[in-house]
Amino acid sequence: MPTYILGIESSCDDTSASVLCDGKVLSNLVANQEIHKSYGGVVPELASRAHQQNIIPVVNQAILKANIDKKQLNAIAYTRGPGLLGSLLVGSSFSKSLSMGLEVPIIEVNHMQAHLLAHFIEDCNTEKPKFPFIGVTISGGHTQIVLVKDYFDMKVIGETLDDAIGETFDKCGKMMGLSYPAGPLVDKNSKLGDAEKFKFTKPKVAGLNFSFSGLKTGFHRFIENKIREEENFLSLETNNLCASLQKTIVDILYEKINSAVQETGIKNIVFGGGVSCNTGIIERFKNDNNNFKAFFPKFEYTTDNAAMIAMVGYLKYLNSDFSNLKEGAKARYKI
Ligand code: KG4
Ligand code: ZN
Repeated sequence: MPTYILGIESSCDDTSASVLCDGKVLSNLVANQEIHKSYGGVVPELASRAHQQNIIPVVNQAILKANIDKKQLNAIAYTRGPGLLGSLLVGSSFSKSLSMGLEVPIIEVNHMQAHLLAHFIEDCNTEKPKFPFIGVTISGGHTQIVLVKDYFDMKVIGETLDDAIGETFDKCGKMMGLSYPAGPLVDKNSKLGDAEKFKFTKPKVAGLNFSFSGLKTGFHRFIENKIREEENFLSLETNNLCASLQKTIVDILYEKINSAVQETGIKNIVFGGGVSCNTGIIERFKNDNNNFKAFFPKFEYTTDNAAMIAMVGYLKYLNSDFSNLKEGAKARYKI
Protein backbone atom coordinates (compact mmCIF):
# COMPACT_ATOMS: atom_id res chain seq x y z
CA MET A 1 0.00 0.00 0.00
CA PRO A 2 1.46 3.42 -0.89
CA THR A 3 1.95 5.97 1.88
CA TYR A 4 0.59 9.46 1.26
CA ILE A 5 1.85 12.31 3.45
CA LEU A 6 0.57 15.89 3.36
CA GLY A 7 3.20 18.44 4.40
CA ILE A 8 2.35 21.97 5.53
CA GLU A 9 4.95 24.75 5.85
CA SER A 10 4.21 28.21 7.27
CA SER A 11 7.30 29.23 9.26
CA CYS A 12 7.97 32.58 7.59
CA ASP A 13 6.33 34.28 4.60
CA ASP A 14 5.57 31.35 2.29
CA THR A 15 2.45 29.23 2.67
CA SER A 16 3.20 25.84 1.20
CA ALA A 17 1.51 22.44 0.96
CA SER A 18 2.78 19.25 -0.64
CA VAL A 19 1.68 15.64 -1.07
CA LEU A 20 4.30 12.90 -1.22
CA CYS A 21 3.72 9.27 -2.12
CA ASP A 22 6.47 7.04 -0.69
CA GLY A 23 8.95 9.96 -0.78
CA LYS A 24 8.00 11.01 -4.32
CA VAL A 25 6.53 14.47 -4.84
CA LEU A 26 3.02 14.47 -6.30
CA SER A 27 2.47 18.17 -5.65
CA ASN A 28 4.37 21.05 -4.05
CA LEU A 29 2.60 24.41 -4.04
CA VAL A 30 4.01 27.62 -2.63
CA ALA A 31 2.06 30.88 -2.19
CA ASN A 32 4.61 33.71 -1.87
CA GLN A 33 3.54 36.77 0.05
CA GLU A 34 4.33 39.72 -2.20
CA ILE A 35 3.05 42.20 0.41
CA HIS A 36 6.41 42.25 2.26
CA LYS A 37 8.30 43.68 -0.72
CA SER A 38 6.99 47.19 -0.09
CA TYR A 39 8.25 47.03 3.53
CA GLY A 40 11.74 45.82 2.62
CA GLY A 41 11.42 42.74 4.87
CA VAL A 42 8.93 40.31 6.39
CA VAL A 43 6.31 41.97 8.63
CA PRO A 44 5.27 39.18 11.07
CA GLU A 45 1.69 40.37 11.63
CA LEU A 46 1.04 40.62 7.88
CA ALA A 47 2.64 37.21 7.33
CA SER A 48 0.22 35.51 9.78
CA ARG A 49 -2.78 37.17 8.14
CA ALA A 50 -1.66 36.11 4.67
CA HIS A 51 -1.14 32.52 5.89
CA GLN A 52 -4.75 32.55 7.18
CA GLN A 53 -5.96 33.59 3.74
CA ASN A 54 -3.74 31.20 1.79
CA ILE A 55 -3.72 27.99 3.78
CA ILE A 56 -7.04 26.46 2.73
CA PRO A 57 -6.68 27.16 -1.02
CA VAL A 58 -3.04 26.02 -1.03
CA VAL A 59 -3.77 22.75 0.78
CA ASN A 60 -6.81 22.16 -1.42
CA GLN A 61 -4.76 22.72 -4.59
CA ALA A 62 -1.98 20.43 -3.36
CA ILE A 63 -4.45 17.58 -2.82
CA LEU A 64 -6.17 18.23 -6.16
CA LYS A 65 -2.86 18.33 -8.04
CA ALA A 66 -1.75 15.10 -6.37
CA ASN A 67 -4.92 13.61 -7.79
CA ILE A 68 -5.87 11.84 -4.58
CA ASP A 69 -8.79 12.05 -2.21
CA LYS A 70 -7.94 13.58 1.18
CA LYS A 71 -9.19 10.38 2.81
CA GLN A 72 -6.21 8.58 1.26
CA LEU A 73 -3.76 10.64 3.35
CA ASN A 74 -1.89 8.54 5.92
CA ALA A 75 -0.57 11.45 8.02
CA ILE A 76 -0.21 15.23 8.21
CA ALA A 77 3.29 16.68 8.75
CA TYR A 78 3.67 20.31 9.77
CA THR A 79 6.46 22.75 10.62
CA ARG A 80 6.58 23.13 14.38
CA GLY A 81 9.50 25.59 14.36
CA PRO A 82 11.76 27.49 14.30
CA GLY A 83 10.14 30.55 12.72
CA LEU A 84 7.74 33.40 13.33
CA LEU A 85 5.32 32.33 16.05
CA GLY A 86 2.19 33.87 14.47
CA SER A 87 2.99 32.19 11.15
CA LEU A 88 3.75 28.82 12.75
CA LEU A 89 0.49 28.94 14.73
CA VAL A 90 -1.58 29.14 11.53
CA GLY A 91 0.06 26.03 10.02
CA SER A 92 0.15 24.03 13.24
CA SER A 93 -3.46 24.76 14.22
CA PHE A 94 -4.73 23.98 10.73
CA SER A 95 -2.71 20.74 10.57
CA LYS A 96 -3.96 19.55 13.94
CA SER A 97 -7.59 20.25 13.00
CA LEU A 98 -7.17 18.42 9.70
CA SER A 99 -5.57 15.41 11.38
CA MET A 100 -8.47 15.27 13.83
CA GLY A 101 -11.03 15.60 11.04
CA LEU A 102 -9.40 12.88 8.93
CA GLU A 103 -8.48 10.76 11.98
CA VAL A 104 -4.86 10.36 10.84
CA PRO A 105 -1.64 10.88 12.84
CA ILE A 106 0.01 14.28 13.12
CA ILE A 107 3.81 14.58 12.74
CA GLU A 108 5.76 17.61 13.89
CA VAL A 109 8.81 18.67 11.86
CA ASN A 110 11.84 20.80 12.65
CA HIS A 111 12.21 23.24 9.73
CA MET A 112 16.03 23.22 9.82
CA GLN A 113 16.22 19.41 9.80
CA ALA A 114 13.83 19.52 6.85
CA HIS A 115 16.14 21.82 4.85
CA LEU A 116 18.84 19.13 5.08
CA LEU A 117 16.60 16.08 4.68
CA ALA A 118 15.11 17.64 1.52
CA HIS A 119 17.99 15.85 -0.23
CA PHE A 120 16.19 12.54 0.32
CA ILE A 121 13.17 13.61 -1.76
CA GLU A 122 13.25 11.25 -4.70
CA ASP A 123 13.83 13.84 -7.45
CA CYS A 124 16.01 16.25 -5.41
CA ASN A 125 19.37 14.85 -6.45
CA THR A 126 20.62 12.14 -8.75
CA GLU A 127 22.92 10.96 -5.98
CA LYS A 128 21.80 10.89 -2.34
CA PRO A 129 24.31 11.99 0.33
CA LYS A 130 25.66 9.25 2.57
CA PHE A 131 25.95 9.54 6.35
CA PRO A 132 27.85 10.99 8.09
CA PHE A 133 27.85 14.38 6.39
CA ILE A 134 28.31 18.03 7.25
CA GLY A 135 25.02 19.87 6.85
CA VAL A 136 25.13 23.58 6.05
CA THR A 137 21.85 25.41 6.56
CA ILE A 138 22.01 28.86 5.05
CA SER A 139 18.85 30.93 4.87
CA GLY A 140 17.34 34.29 5.74
CA GLY A 141 17.13 33.37 9.42
CA HIS A 142 19.85 30.76 9.92
CA THR A 143 23.49 29.95 9.33
CA GLN A 144 24.51 26.63 10.82
CA ILE A 145 27.08 23.90 10.38
CA VAL A 146 25.55 20.61 11.48
CA LEU A 147 27.18 17.25 12.07
CA VAL A 148 24.67 14.76 10.64
CA LYS A 149 25.28 11.12 11.60
CA ASP A 150 21.83 9.85 10.64
CA TYR A 151 18.41 11.19 9.61
CA PHE A 152 17.58 12.33 13.12
CA ASP A 153 21.02 12.33 14.71
CA MET A 154 22.07 15.95 14.13
CA LYS A 155 24.27 18.25 16.18
CA VAL A 156 24.96 21.93 15.51
CA ILE A 157 28.76 22.42 15.58
CA GLY A 158 28.82 26.03 14.40
CA GLU A 159 26.35 28.86 13.93
CA THR A 160 26.08 32.59 13.52
CA LEU A 161 26.45 34.69 16.63
CA ASP A 162 24.43 37.53 15.11
CA ASP A 163 23.00 38.00 11.59
CA ALA A 164 22.22 35.13 9.26
CA ILE A 165 23.91 34.88 5.86
CA GLY A 166 20.67 35.54 3.90
CA GLU A 167 19.91 38.51 6.13
CA THR A 168 23.37 39.89 5.28
CA PHE A 169 22.66 39.56 1.55
CA ASP A 170 19.23 41.18 2.04
CA LYS A 171 20.35 44.07 4.27
CA CYS A 172 23.45 44.97 2.27
CA GLY A 173 21.32 44.72 -0.89
CA LYS A 174 18.80 47.09 0.65
CA MET A 175 21.62 49.58 1.33
CA MET A 176 22.35 49.49 -2.41
CA GLY A 177 18.67 50.16 -3.16
CA LEU A 178 17.81 46.59 -4.21
CA SER A 179 14.34 45.30 -3.44
CA TYR A 180 13.52 42.56 -0.91
CA PRO A 181 14.67 39.79 -0.92
CA ALA A 182 17.93 41.17 -2.27
CA GLY A 183 19.90 37.89 -2.14
CA PRO A 184 18.94 36.71 -5.64
CA LEU A 185 19.57 40.21 -7.07
CA VAL A 186 23.02 40.48 -5.50
CA ASP A 187 23.75 37.09 -7.02
CA LYS A 188 22.50 38.16 -10.47
CA ASN A 189 24.38 41.50 -10.45
CA SER A 190 27.57 39.78 -9.25
CA LYS A 191 27.87 38.00 -12.59
CA LEU A 192 28.42 41.39 -14.27
CA GLY A 193 30.84 42.78 -11.69
CA ASP A 194 34.48 42.57 -10.63
CA ALA A 195 34.72 40.64 -7.36
CA GLU A 196 38.21 42.00 -6.66
CA LYS A 197 37.24 45.68 -7.01
CA PHE A 198 36.41 46.31 -3.34
CA LYS A 199 37.74 44.63 -0.20
CA PHE A 200 35.65 44.22 2.95
CA THR A 201 36.97 43.15 6.32
CA LYS A 202 36.21 39.59 7.28
CA PRO A 203 35.31 38.79 10.90
CA LYS A 204 37.62 36.89 13.22
CA VAL A 205 35.46 34.40 15.07
CA ALA A 206 36.82 31.43 16.97
CA GLY A 207 35.88 27.84 16.10
CA LEU A 208 33.13 27.10 13.62
CA ASN A 209 30.88 30.02 14.51
CA PHE A 210 30.09 32.91 12.19
CA SER A 211 29.49 36.62 12.57
CA PHE A 212 28.11 38.84 9.84
CA SER A 213 27.12 42.02 11.66
CA GLY A 214 30.62 43.55 11.33
CA LEU A 215 30.60 42.99 7.58
CA LYS A 216 27.16 44.60 7.35
CA THR A 217 28.27 47.67 9.35
CA GLY A 218 31.56 47.90 7.43
CA PHE A 219 29.69 47.71 4.12
CA HIS A 220 27.33 50.48 5.25
CA ARG A 221 30.17 52.77 6.29
CA PHE A 222 32.07 52.07 3.09
CA ILE A 223 29.22 53.04 0.78
CA GLU A 224 28.32 56.09 2.89
CA ASN A 225 31.89 57.40 2.56
CA LYS A 226 31.97 56.69 -1.17
CA ILE A 227 28.62 58.44 -1.74
CA ARG A 228 30.05 61.53 -0.02
CA GLU A 229 32.83 61.57 -2.64
CA GLU A 230 30.61 60.69 -5.65
CA GLU A 231 26.86 60.98 -5.35
CA ASN A 232 26.22 58.47 -8.16
CA PHE A 233 28.53 55.89 -6.59
CA LEU A 234 25.80 53.29 -6.08
CA SER A 235 24.41 53.36 -9.60
CA LEU A 236 27.92 53.40 -11.09
CA GLU A 237 29.25 50.56 -8.98
CA THR A 238 26.27 48.28 -8.14
CA ASN A 239 27.62 45.26 -10.03
CA ASN A 240 31.15 45.57 -8.60
CA LEU A 241 29.76 46.10 -5.09
CA CYS A 242 27.53 43.02 -5.43
CA ALA A 243 30.37 40.88 -6.78
CA SER A 244 32.81 42.01 -4.06
CA LEU A 245 30.23 41.54 -1.30
CA GLN A 246 29.27 38.09 -2.56
CA LYS A 247 32.91 37.02 -2.80
CA THR A 248 33.52 38.12 0.80
CA ILE A 249 30.49 36.17 2.05
CA VAL A 250 31.47 33.07 0.07
CA ASP A 251 35.05 33.33 1.42
CA ILE A 252 33.75 33.47 5.01
CA LEU A 253 31.55 30.41 4.44
CA TYR A 254 34.29 28.52 2.60
CA GLU A 255 36.86 29.05 5.37
CA LYS A 256 34.50 27.81 8.08
CA ILE A 257 33.39 24.76 6.12
CA ASN A 258 37.03 23.98 5.38
CA SER A 259 37.72 24.09 9.14
CA ALA A 260 34.72 21.81 9.78
CA VAL A 261 36.13 19.31 7.24
CA GLN A 262 39.57 19.42 8.92
CA GLU A 263 38.04 18.96 12.37
CA THR A 264 35.68 16.12 11.53
CA GLY A 265 37.44 14.43 8.63
CA ILE A 266 34.07 14.39 6.81
CA LYS A 267 34.17 15.60 3.22
CA ASN A 268 30.53 15.30 2.20
CA ILE A 269 28.92 18.72 2.47
CA VAL A 270 25.14 18.97 2.17
CA PHE A 271 23.64 22.42 1.65
CA GLY A 272 20.10 23.48 2.47
CA GLY A 273 18.10 26.71 2.77
CA GLY A 274 17.35 29.62 0.44
CA VAL A 275 20.96 30.83 0.11
CA SER A 276 22.13 27.43 -1.17
CA CYS A 277 21.05 28.39 -4.70
CA ASN A 278 23.62 31.21 -4.70
CA THR A 279 25.76 30.69 -7.79
CA GLY A 280 28.93 32.00 -6.11
CA ILE A 281 28.62 29.34 -3.40
CA ILE A 282 27.77 26.58 -5.89
CA GLU A 283 30.72 27.42 -8.16
CA ARG A 284 33.21 27.64 -5.29
CA PHE A 285 32.25 24.28 -3.79
CA LYS A 286 31.60 22.39 -7.01
CA ASN A 287 34.99 23.45 -8.36
CA ASP A 288 36.73 22.09 -5.31
CA ASN A 289 36.10 18.41 -5.68
CA ASN A 290 39.51 17.50 -4.27
CA ASN A 291 38.57 18.83 -0.88
CA PHE A 292 34.81 18.40 -0.81
CA LYS A 293 31.91 16.55 -2.29
CA ALA A 294 29.17 19.13 -2.26
CA PHE A 295 25.46 18.40 -2.56
CA PHE A 296 23.08 21.19 -3.53
CA PRO A 297 19.31 20.68 -3.59
CA LYS A 298 17.25 21.18 -6.70
CA PHE A 299 16.17 24.83 -6.87
CA GLU A 300 12.56 24.32 -5.73
CA TYR A 301 13.76 22.53 -2.59
CA THR A 302 16.21 25.27 -1.51
CA THR A 303 13.77 27.97 -0.40
CA ASP A 304 10.94 27.23 2.01
CA ASN A 305 8.70 24.49 0.68
CA ALA A 306 6.33 21.87 2.07
CA ALA A 307 7.83 18.94 0.12
CA MET A 308 10.77 18.91 2.55
CA ILE A 309 8.32 18.92 5.48
CA ALA A 310 6.37 16.02 3.95
CA MET A 311 9.68 14.18 3.37
CA VAL A 312 10.59 14.39 7.06
CA GLY A 313 6.99 13.40 7.81
CA TYR A 314 7.44 10.31 5.64
CA LEU A 315 10.73 9.33 7.34
CA LYS A 316 9.09 9.74 10.76
CA TYR A 317 5.99 7.86 9.58
CA LEU A 318 8.18 4.86 8.71
CA ASN A 319 9.45 4.93 12.33
CA SER A 320 5.89 5.46 13.70
CA ASP A 321 7.29 8.66 15.24
CA PHE A 322 4.00 10.51 15.68
CA SER A 323 3.30 13.65 17.70
CA ASN A 324 0.40 14.58 19.91
CA LEU A 325 -2.10 17.37 19.58
CA LYS A 326 -0.79 19.12 22.70
CA GLU A 327 2.56 19.94 21.08
CA GLY A 328 2.51 23.54 19.98
CA ALA A 329 4.43 25.79 17.63
CA LYS A 330 7.94 26.75 18.78
CA ALA A 331 9.52 29.98 17.53
CA ARG A 332 12.90 28.76 18.81
CA TYR A 333 13.40 25.10 18.11
CA LYS A 334 16.86 23.55 18.11
CA ILE A 335 17.80 20.85 15.61
O1 KG4 B 1 15.16 29.33 3.26
P1 KG4 B 1 14.51 30.61 2.86
O2 KG4 B 1 13.50 30.57 1.73
O3 KG4 B 1 13.73 31.26 4.04
C1 KG4 B 1 14.20 31.32 5.34
O4 KG4 B 1 13.99 30.33 6.08
O5 KG4 B 1 14.87 32.33 5.64
O6 KG4 B 1 15.69 31.66 2.51
C2 KG4 B 1 15.43 32.96 2.08
C3 KG4 B 1 16.76 33.68 1.97
C4 KG4 B 1 16.61 35.19 1.72
O7 KG4 B 1 17.47 35.87 2.62
C5 KG4 B 1 17.07 35.35 0.27
O8 KG4 B 1 17.63 36.61 -0.02
C6 KG4 B 1 18.12 34.27 0.18
O9 KG4 B 1 17.53 33.17 0.87
N1 KG4 B 1 18.43 33.89 -1.20
C7 KG4 B 1 19.64 34.10 -1.78
C8 KG4 B 1 19.54 33.63 -3.11
N2 KG4 B 1 18.28 33.15 -3.30
C9 KG4 B 1 17.62 33.30 -2.11
N3 KG4 B 1 20.77 34.64 -1.28
C10 KG4 B 1 21.83 34.72 -2.10
N4 KG4 B 1 21.81 34.29 -3.38
C11 KG4 B 1 20.70 33.74 -3.92
N5 KG4 B 1 20.71 33.32 -5.19
ZN1 ZN C 1 13.88 27.99 5.60
